[in-house]
Amino acid sequence: MDKLLVRGGEPLKGETKASGSKNSSLPILAATLLASKPVRLSNLPHLRDVTTMLELLAVLGARVSLDESLAVTIDTNSVSNLKAPYDLVRKMRASFLVLGPLLARHGRVEVSLPGGCAIGTRPVDQHLKALELMGATISIVNGYVTATCERGLEGAHVAMDVVTVGGTQNVLMAATLARGTTVIENAAQEPEVVELASCLREMGASITGDGSSTITVDGCNQLQGCSYRVKSDRIEVGTYLIAAAATRGHICIHDACPETLDAVLDTLRDFGPDVQVSGSTIELDARTNSSRATDIFTAVYPGIPTDLQAQFMALNCVSEGVSQITETIFENRFMHVQELVRLGADVRLMDARTATVKGVSQLRGAPVMATDLRASSSLLIGALVATGETAINRIYHIDRGYERIEEKLGWLGADIRRVSV
Ligand code: EPZ
Repeated sequence: MDKLLVRGGEPLKGETKASGSKNSSLPILAATLLASKPVRLSNLPHLRDVTTMLELLAVLGARVSLDESLAVTIDTNSVSNLKAPYDLVRKMRASFLVLGPLLARHGRVEVSLPGGCAIGTRPVDQHLKALELMGATISIVNGYVTATCERGLEGAHVAMDVVTVGGTQNVLMAATLARGTTVIENAAQEPEVVELASCLREMGASITGDGSSTITVDGCNQLQGCSYRVKSDRIEVGTYLIAAAATRGHICIHDACPETLDAVLDTLRDFGPDVQVSGSTIELDARTNSSRATDIFTAVYPGIPTDLQAQFMALNCVSEGVSQITETIFENRFMHVQELVRLGADVRLMDARTATVKGVSQLRGAPVMATDLRASSSLLIGALVATGETAINRIYHIDRGYERIEEKLGWLGADIRRVSV
């Protein structure tokens, strides 16, 4: 198992480029199951979760090929296995996104029920309720969700009880091949939903309202192939900007999708750094100002993403003053607290959703353990600031979501290396 060794204390400086978005790539890969012609996807990030989704598509029977520019072409006409096995869904919850497309196109699907995970129970009731409204018959037996609709799915009026990104994406995909019109109310407005809708439109789907809380889909008989370039990863960009702020550095990120990061950039400015946007480049300069503790309240888009909560906590650990972090999306997303404390941070959990952080002048390197993807990146930020060496264990979590992280941080001046143990 690999670990990262980080010798902290160097401000990040220099230029880098954002990678393709993990959380856009995964639903778009699932959406290829709807297309009756091959779909070519470029700018997919080279990440473990993307590989797992490709592996799942191959298990279902899709033909996956890679060209010289590393674009992936997926032909799902050969899909014959309609079962997403436990072994793959267990590795990655986003595998559940094949439910809607397979059901809509083939009238039957079996997908392992994802269990709870390190950040909460994460039910899928909203996905299932919506598909039932569209005419699916659903049962859960031996840990598998079986859904059938012999006469195809029917458009329906679906009002989500909670705002769910994956739920909205599953229904959106299913609705493209349903008979008639589907209206999704209380839909997630995240950029990754908008991107999925854009890609589906490229395949010929009729979708309006994405990016708002009401999405309307007029179903059709079949979708075509298309060629689509995945946009940049706003969470990766946010993570590097927060790391630069924590190390009092100065970085530029190109192809950084600033239009999706308003709340994050405003919050970074509240901490003190100068943040400028020029076209698709974001420049953050934290060399002169001290860092001020800033309260963080996560929320659905366009609020501060839960996927940056742990990283903002790490920044607060080395900022002047006291801050409160409130996590509103997941009920158990503070696993990084105890590990940040091992680096010398002063963080107290007030209840399951609130933590108080008192900034300290210095963190000190220590062995720590990554518990989930974003928790890992908060430890990495802590390590980049700390004096001495930090060993981050279980970094397979980081490899799920950050492309070539030690290489990219190395270019920005970090002393970081991967070792196999
Ligand atoms: C997506 O997860 C992202 N994953 C997560 O990214 C992200 O944290 C999350 O959205 C919130 O933004 C991908 O895009 C692959 P949800 P998803 O359904 O879709 C509850 C990362 O680090 N809920 O929006 O699974 C749920 O328990 C990650 O990259 C129900 O109650 O999240 C949670 O409290 C991890 N019933 C809330 O809604 C349901 O049927 C939001 O979950 C579905 C969800």
